[in-house]
Amino acid sequence: MHLYLLPLLATTLLSTATPIQKRDSTVVNAVTAIATQMTTLNETVTSYTGGLLGTGTALKIEFESIKLSHALKDAISTTEATANLTSDESGTVATAFVDLKPKIDSTLDNIVARKPEFDTGLLGIGSLSFVVKWNLQQEKDLAGQLGEAVVGILAEPYASVAPLLNDQIAGAFEKALAAYE
Ligand SMILES: *[C@@H]1O[C@H](CO)[C@@H](O)[C@H](O)[C@H]1NC(C)=O
Ligand SMILES: *[C@@H]1O[C@H](CO)[C@@H](O)[C@H](O)[C@H]1NC(C)=O
Repeated sequence: MHLYLLPLLATTLLSTATPIQKRDSTVVNAVTAIATQMTTLNETVTSYTGGLLGTGTALKIEFESIKLSHALKDAISTTEATANLTSDESGTVATAFVDLKPKIDSTLDNIVARKPEFDTGLLGIGSLSFVVKWNLQQEKDLAGQLGEAVVGILAEPYASVAPLLNDQIAGAFEKALAAYE
């Protein structure tokens, strides 16, 4: 190799190693996308009146649930592709999850409150509750995977505390699933 190429090579390597976007903001953006999609789903659930007339809204709820699962999957792959966070970055990411928790709770409460409507949601004659239950189970599993991935990149003390939050989130999903048994 010609010697004059070395500085050029070094510069190239350095610029590749420098993150273009801050690692914590990448993960936080993925969490924000989940929160936004959750709010959209929640609003659609609120507007749901069940029965034959609610069929369009029931379909919309299904689409919004699929989008929520996509947002969760995106966040999992983003987190898995992110290098271990510094302590400051970990604090930022942990805060985003703490902020997400009440949104999960109120969306799940709303879905549970609408069970009577979902029970007659299939064209006004059958129950859609099995679909809702399937969605909830899927979202619970994905939220669990995301929680694990996040714990894997957090610095202490966040890495030790985050599993407690993950357990609470899993518990909230379990409570909602129990209502749909
Ligand atoms: C979900 O909807 C309920 C009922 O409209 C509302 O009280 C709650 O704040 C909403 N939650 C979110 C995360 O939008
Ligand atoms: C990242 O942190 C985890 C523990 O939180 C550790 O097991 C792993 O070795 C770390 N990875 C790197 C590349 O430092």
